[in-house]
Amino acid sequence: MRIPQSFIDEIKYRNKIEDVIASYVNLKRAGSVYQGLCPFHSERTPSFTVFPNTETFHCFGCGAGGDVISFIMRAENLEYPGAVEFLAKRSGLEMPEEADGGKSETIKRSRMYEMNRAAALFFNKALYAPESEPAREYLKKRGLSRAAVKRFGLGFAPNSFHALSDHMHSLGYRDEELKEAFLCGKSERTGGYFDYFRGRIMFPIIDNFSNVIAFGGRALGDEKPKYLNTSDTPVFKKSRNLFALNFARNACAESLILCEGYMDVIAVNMAGFPNAVATLGTALTSEQARIMAKYTKKVILSYDSDDAGVAAAKRAIPILTDVGLEVKLLRMEGAKDPDEYIKKFGAARFKTLLEDSQGKLDYLCDSVLKKYDILIPEEKMKAADELCGVICGIWSDVEREIYITRIAERLSVEPSNLARDVERRMRRKQREEDTELRRKVVSDTLGYGDRVNREFVGNAKAARAEEAIIGILLLRPELIPEIRRGTVALCADDFVTAFNRRVFEALTACGEKCDIGALAQDFTLEEIDRITAMQVKRSALSKNDLAVLQENVQTLKAAAEEKNTENELEEIKSLLSKKKK
Ligand code: CTP
Ligand code: MN
Repeated sequence: MRIPQSFIDEIKYRNKIEDVIASYVNLKRAGSVYQGLCPFHSERTPSFTVFPNTETFHCFGCGAGGDVISFIMRAENLEYPGAVEFLAKRSGLEMPEEADGGKSETIKRSRMYEMNRAAALFFNKALYAPESEPAREYLKKRGLSRAAVKRFGLGFAPNSFHALSDHMHSLGYRDEELKEAFLCGKSERTGGYFDYFRGRIMFPIIDNFSNVIAFGGRALGDEKPKYLNTSDTPVFKKSRNLFALNFARNACAESLILCEGYMDVIAVNMAGFPNAVATLGTALTSEQARIMAKYTKKVILSYDSDDAGVAAAKRAIPILTDVGLEVKLLRMEGAKDPDEYIKKFGAARFKTLLEDSQGKLDYLCDSVLKKYDILIPEEKMKAADELCGVICGIWSDVEREIYITRIAERLSVEPSNLARDVERRMRRKQREEDTELRRKVVSDTLGYGDRVNREFVGNAKAARAEEAIIGILLLRPELIPEIRRGTVALCADDFVTAFNRRVFEALTACGEKCDIGALAQDFTLEEIDRITAMQVKRSALSKNDLAVLQENVQTLKAAAEEKNTENELEEIKSLLSKKKK
């Protein structure tokens, strides 16, 4: 069941977009709109704009846009029903009771939380069963205390195809539900269901509201894969969650320690640092960085010390810096990862390691210098070249000079020579960036790389008219009945691109009460960005009346006609060529 429109209207009435956004963004009034620094990308001058009249927001920098609900979806990392619930709570409303006995997504969500919690309890209990001795033995071997097992709610999935399912059935959960929560799989061959996690140590992933949202399961031995993880479900997106943030968020005023693995987080916790988190088996995403930036100012990267870990750290640095986080890096030697380091050298040494963590520039420079033997001229040149690349990314002139002096000394070269190389490199980089920007502007105007509307390319003229029509209808929904009445001769079939046709159909289905919010349940955030941009583009123009609408309908039809004749020509050509053969 969908959330009733009347309830959404009430939510929006009680949660004025400018008030809601003001608690995330420092907004300044500018005429009839508000402006501020975009919370969804890093910028120095405000291009994030809130339009109280149309109850929408749009960022002229990154293109994010939509209504108050899509704002909350992004800012709080929630799906549509979750965002509605969030705003309902904010304004003291109860979510409406479901009419149809449990089909709605909100019910599915709470049921999925309950299901995961029941599974976590089952796994935890199974850890203490007599036949789970090997699992307990494993945890002991890894040095995990009873307290740690309890704190993280660890458990063991018995080595059985049905142990969990049988238990869950006894609680009233059905196989299809278990499958949707990734607790069960379904055999393609026999159609039978089976437990997904078998013979594995279970790490529950817990969100900030103490809901169990997913699991990671580690093999006891060298079986592959080492870890099995819950895939994305209605209550879990791995790109938007962090392991142990539920603990770390209460202890991270100063910094967060970002590790690669679950085991590292637990070891770091046991060593007395509850401010550790890890990604969930994927590379760090900008969403995760943004979440971290909500809780802290500084992240200490504590990735593995092998090549893969160093490469992952290098990729993580700009993602963290982009959301305004200060990045420090652990200089870990003699151990593969924090878990191993703490076991080998103890908690006190790890504390020193944290205190001595390096700034990102020193880290990057050191990692270059480590790679080369600078006593060999060729290697020294390579090192100098790579270091120039690092230095030319430094914005501040003073800071750049400091690094040039320091590195010149390490390489024993003249600082002025190194400085000249850096300058040359910076000019080249600037040129490359300019070219890239020009290329991007060209491809944007032509619509290449358009992920929302792939047909824009090749139908630009028609698609532009379609976007104008949609923009006008969003600004002046009272014109929609004119289409129904036939004053404007336009129907869905007149649309050339499928995406815009879908938007048009959704708009006309809503009728004269339509707005961006009414579309939000049926379109992705990225699609809503695009639709909002269509409206914003029109609102910048002075005339958006029936006549302009008619003009665009004409343009669309003419463009579609041209395309048709083009197609016919193509067809005739291909027929002719076949005949010749
Ligand atoms: N990971 C995964 N799937 C794998 C291997 C790793 O999802 N096949 C993820 C897990 O989240 C894991 C993290 O990547 O915690 C880091 O991997 P790794 O360093 O190999 O594991 P550790 O956590 O260090 O585990 P252990 O110490 O038990 O080897
Ligand atoms: Mn490890």
